[in-house]
Amino acid sequence: MPAPKIARTINAQRKQLGQWRRKGNSIALVPTMGALHAGHLSLVRLAHRKADRVAVSIFVNPGQFAPHEDFGRYPRTWKADLAMLTKEKTDLIFAPEVKEIYPAGFTTKITLDGPALGLETDFRPHFFGGVATIVAKLLIEAMPDVAIFGEKDYQQLLVIRRMARDLDLPIRILGAPIVREKDGLALSSRNIYLSPGDRKTATTLYRVLSESASAIAKGEKIEPILALGREKIQTAGFKLDYLEARNADTLEQAESAKDGPLRLLVAARIGGTRLIDNVAVKRI
Ligand code: PAF
Repeated sequence: MPAPKIARTINAQRKQLGQWRRKGNSIALVPTMGALHAGHLSLVRLAHRKADRVAVSIFVNPGQFAPHEDFGRYPRTWKADLAMLTKEKTDLIFAPEVKEIYPAGFTTKITLDGPALGLETDFRPHFFGGVATIVAKLLIEAMPDVAIFGEKDYQQLLVIRRMARDLDLPIRILGAPIVREKDGLALSSRNIYLSPGDRKTATTLYRVLSESASAIAKGEKIEPILALGREKIQTAGFKLDYLEARNADTLEQAESAKDGPLRLLVAARIGGTRLIDNVAVKRI
């Protein structure tokens, strides 16, 4: 199986993608921070369906971690990532060092409004500025036809979509469905931090999301359902950041199922690990 081409610099990536473009190939980009799992691979597979050539970036972006967060210990699994991406017939991996992306003197940062307000921003105020800045750079560096992001980071997906539209980037931003373990836990590179006990408890999040979504879809009032869901999550042993129902397109507050399409979003910590998840409220 041919190994993917590996570009460590912006120029090397531009040169290779340029060659493919001149041959008339379309390009899909899947931005990642590595520590790949089946969720990422589903993005790569979707990318193959959308374009002739698939590039995956692997870059643990210091700009989206606060000083007290897990940048230093974030899993870096280059060999396993390379093996998986080879199997998935990835054409190119862009894996720059931090100084390639943020050379001395780098000062620019994107500021955001709209879907970036609230939810994650209430608990990680630094986060979306860091994400939008790196994603804008990755998109401008590769200029793909399409870029693919997981719906697991649902607010991130909407922030990136808005940012690409606002900056007139001629790139289609696609979301891909969440991939889950058999017991419902959403795949995440951070799940490896969970102790066996916490791993079992972690299924509470998806259970509460699913139960709440079906009750709301049946027309029950949103706030009492969320209050019950919050109680269940806390009783299971989580420290809850939020459990909210929002308009799925704008992330504005939703008072009733009529404010739909709706999305339920949750973030909670257990044993030092912060998990996020979300589900759509299906119209009945
Ligand atoms: O979702 C992620 O893995 C990251 O936030 C992203 C989009 C690759 C930006 O660093």
